[in-house]
Amino acid sequence: MNILVTSKLSKGNHIAMAKIEANYFEHELIADYETTIKWHDSNEDSCIIALDKDTGLIAGHMSFVPVDNYFYDLMLKGNFVDTQITSEHIIQYKHPGIFKLYFCVVCVAPSYRGKNISRIILKEYARRFLELKERGIIFSDIVADAITEEGRRFCQNVLGMSFVGGSKHQSKIMHVGANIFYEKLKNNLL
Ligand SMILES: CC(C)(COP(=O)(O)OP(=O)(O)OC[C@H]1O[C@@H](n2cnc3c(N)ncnc32)[C@H](O)[C@@H]1OP(=O)(O)O)[C@@H](O)C(=O)NCCC(=O)NCCS
Repeated sequence: MNILVTSKLSKGNHIAMAKIEANYFEHELIADYETTIKWHDSNEDSCIIALDKDTGLIAGHMSFVPVDNYFYDLMLKGNFVDTQITSEHIIQYKHPGIFKLYFCVVCVAPSYRGKNISRIILKEYARRFLELKERGIIFSDIVADAITEEGRRFCQNVLGMSFVGGSKHQSKIMHVGANIFYEKLKNNLL
């Protein structure tokens, strides 16, 4: 297995991600490829894929989207399905500042499960986020909407998130603050 980690995504990659997600999530919880292309155009670091260079297939993908307070608060309250997020709520890393992150998805294709794919992608995020921190681009809060039990475990065990409350769509809203988050990222560089 020869894995390339990249955030340079083609339209085909966006289509493939939605198909991988269809293995696990209800249709109404999956953003279609046109939507994820718009999100990625708004912040080109927001999604990272692990591409298997031997097969050309996406092994897995992960997405952390910096969002404005309006969207962050909606997610924290559990009242909102993220497929409705529009580009105006997505922030670009142009200037130093304190931002909020929405951990949108982690998903590994069935045949690549158990091969450390999510760990490989997170390592690249850790590298990028710690580099952004050096430039004064800092995340104060991270929120996630864990729709599966594996997702909840990942949020809790890997990112240090805590359960905040249930959502209207039966998922678990998770949160972590900056201190624990950056500590976990540093551990992931090792
Ligand atoms: C969550 C998911 C992405 C992890 O996939 P993976 O990279 O194949 O992970 P592995 O099977 O190699 O991981 C084994 C364990 O190590 C954990 N792990 C992964 N990355 C890690 C890291 N960087 N540091 C420590 N532990 C890590 C995993 O959470 C998992 O723990 P668990 O057994 O308690 O669930 C995978 O289960 C998945 O795609 N599930 C379906 C989609 C899904 O439910 N996504 C979450 C939606 S909210």
